[in-house]
Amino acid sequence: MRNRAAVWVVAAMVAVGSIPGGTVASAQVNDGPRAVLVTGASSGIGRKITEVLAARGYFVYAGARKAQDMEALNRIKNVQAIRLDVTVPSEIEAAVTTVEKAGRGLYGLVNNAGVAVIMPLIEIDEDDLKFQLDVNVFGPYRVTKAFSKLLIASKGRIVTTGSLSGFVSGSMSGPYSMSKHAVEAFVDALAAEMARFDVKVSVLEPGNYQTEIGKSLLARMEAKGRTFEGPYEQDMRRIADFAKGISRDAEPDDVAEAAFAALSDPHPKLRYLVVPNQGQADLTLRKLFQTVAELNLGQKYSVSRDSLVAMLDKALAETGR
Ligand SMILES: NC(=O)c1ccc[n+]([C@@H]2O[C@H](COP(=O)([O-])OP(=O)(O)OC[C@H]3O[C@@H](n4cnc5c(N)ncnc54)[C@H](OP(=O)(O)O)[C@@H]3O)[C@@H](O)[C@H]2O)c1
Repeated sequence: MRNRAAVWVVAAMVAVGSIPGGTVASAQVNDGPRAVLVTGASSGIGRKITEVLAARGYFVYAGARKAQDMEALNRIKNVQAIRLDVTVPSEIEAAVTTVEKAGRGLYGLVNNAGVAVIMPLIEIDEDDLKFQLDVNVFGPYRVTKAFSKLLIASKGRIVTTGSLSGFVSGSMSGPYSMSKHAVEAFVDALAAEMARFDVKVSVLEPGNYQTEIGKSLLARMEAKGRTFEGPYEQDMRRIADFAKGISRDAEPDDVAEAAFAALSDPHPKLRYLVVPNQGQADLTLRKLFQTVAELNLGQKYSVSRDSLVAMLDKALAETGR
């Protein structure tokens, strides 16, 4: 049974590198600016991506949920606000209709909308965990699926906002990290599947930036009457302080630049690590090396240190090509 499972995993990985060329005809919809839909454009990273893309000549459909946010977005040149809650299928359908009717086609989708839920795993209500996964995982899945025909027709780009939490997990961050780990799997599979349609897929991996995400997280905890007392008090207070601290981090300009690169470079990266300092990059790499060590040390099948270094060299060479 274990061998069959291993063969299945290997077969899936081989398929990643052996996808045949495009089979769907490209449709040049018009000669105007390329259109991009950004979800979660009302604040933070999504708002910054919207501003940068619009300033650089893209036409941006900016997804938002509140009337005042839509009004603010509509005031930006080259931006059309679109009502879009990524958990509401009827709003996604309506957004597809709006984009289709406009006749610009759709070159790019930026799946950016996201929320953070922080709670101990054995205490979190199932509804709260569902909420976390509904926005961060089912959201990109639903929106990508709904716009896939338009994106295939334009041989376009799909960019999703992941996180360092797609690689790192720890006490209290389980729900958010689960969702962002799922985004990594989503993106890897999607990239392999969309290559046959000449649609390129990327994921942005931001570190800590100044946005509304911490404030929203604390507001939801307060609304639910969550208190910090009990065995998790120290960790919960640390996370709450961290969430407050997000407002003191750097503005997410570099994340917007990465989104622009993912949409405009002839050969975009699959992953854009965008962090405000070396420490956050090191933390992520150390975690990945730790996982390699855990999978290799004292296992039935493992490889020597030299083989590990040779594998790393090969990965570096292949990624740099
Ligand atoms: N800030 C960071 O340090 C950081 C680091 C790594 C990754 N990220 C990721 O970056 C993305 C953007 O977050 P942010 O940090 O910029 O936080 P933010 O300022 O709170 O922005 C989140 C955006 O998502 C929207 N949103 C929330 N639920 C939604 C739903 N159901 N449907 C549609 N839109 C929804 C929000 O809209 P409303 O205003 O209507 O709520 C808002 O526009 C998220 O995927 C997040 O996980 C952030």
